[in-house]
Amino acid sequence: MLTIEAATKLLGEIADPILNVPLKETGGVKEVSIKEEKEHVSVKIAIAKLGGQPQLDLQTKIVELLKANGARTVGLRFDQLDDAALEQYRGQTGSEIERRLQDTEFISIASGKGGVGKSTVSVNLAVALARLGKKVGLVDADIYGFSVPDMMGITERPGIKGESIIPVERFGVKVISMAFFVEENTPVIWRGPMLGKMINNFFQEVEWGELDYILLDLPPGTGDVALDVHEMLPKSKEIVVTTPHPTAAFVAARAGAMALHTKHDILGVVENMSYFESRETGNREYVFGSGGGEKLAQELNTELIGQLPLAQPDWDENDFAPSVYAADHPLGVIYRNMAAKIIEKTEK
Ligand SMILES: Nc1ncnc2c1ncn2[C@@H]1O[C@H](COP(=O)(O)OP(=O)(O)O)[C@@H](O)[C@H]1O
Ligand SMILES: [Mg+2]
Repeated sequence: MLTIEAATKLLGEIADPILNVPLKETGGVKEVSIKEEKEHVSVKIAIAKLGGQPQLDLQTKIVELLKANGARTVGLRFDQLDDAALEQYRGQTGSEIERRLQDTEFISIASGKGGVGKSTVSVNLAVALARLGKKVGLVDADIYGFSVPDMMGITERPGIKGESIIPVERFGVKVISMAFFVEENTPVIWRGPMLGKMINNFFQEVEWGELDYILLDLPPGTGDVALDVHEMLPKSKEIVVTTPHPTAAFVAARAGAMALHTKHDILGVVENMSYFESRETGNREYVFGSGGGEKLAQELNTELIGQLPLAQPDWDENDFAPSVYAADHPLGVIYRNMAAKIIEKTEK
């Protein structure tokens, strides 16, 4: 018959299904008791996250293992690992996300301040990548200023399948936004831990399927929120959006510096609202100044991957998406070229 020591040792070798670390290291083997006369082994196991298929699989594994080693019956209870233990393995949880999205390139879109077109660029780059045949996800991580669903003309809400959230698909892009989870446009107040949870859920609980790219529309600036999001992302490259005014570029440089601080590679700079081009004469007016994008790219030791003039998308009454430029719109073409450049820079 199995001894307590032997059973504890066997169980300790099994990996926590979420953390992928042996239970003997997480302290996940909580109790083991044996009733000799009945050949009954009773155990209590703590794991990182309760419920779902991972727990069911683990249950089967434990019961089979103990029976193979002499138990006739097995009593099994599960518990959640305590916060202290979880904290210790947080890094590993991150890499679990990373494993799941191993072939996915994360690209965060950042800016020094609001109103420079960060969301417009996020949306249109995502659409342009999808038009080039890539599988693309877009996370509206600007949790206070979420705007992506409105910009893309999304009226649907995400579906629920079991415990997973199914993103809304629009123009071939899978979209998740904070806007989906709040009441009709009510302002939301997030504190650090809640925020972390929300962003984590965007990755853990959303069924993204196979993806080549996930774009994240970050909150503007270098505040706590932006920094949190930066630090929470397991791996990400970064695009910094600025207007051509040298002062705007100066502010954007701080966002870039933050990216470098959190060890994100900067993929390039996008200069938005670069100029106004007259339809009649083709004459360009640099209404917001010029040179900002180039200057910023130099400062961040990266390249200027595109310059977008001022122009509105064409209005389509039948397929309303107020901020998405058509593929053959002059800006749609610039976005396609930028997307091609991004693919070239990220494909090894
Ligand atoms: N190239 C452009 N031409 C004209 N309007 C633009 C352009 N880029 C952005 N806009 C407009 O400027 C406003 C701010 O853009 P948005 O993407 O919401 O900025 P952010 O996300 O940085 O706050 C929006 O009304 C958007 O439609
Ligand atoms: Mg925005």
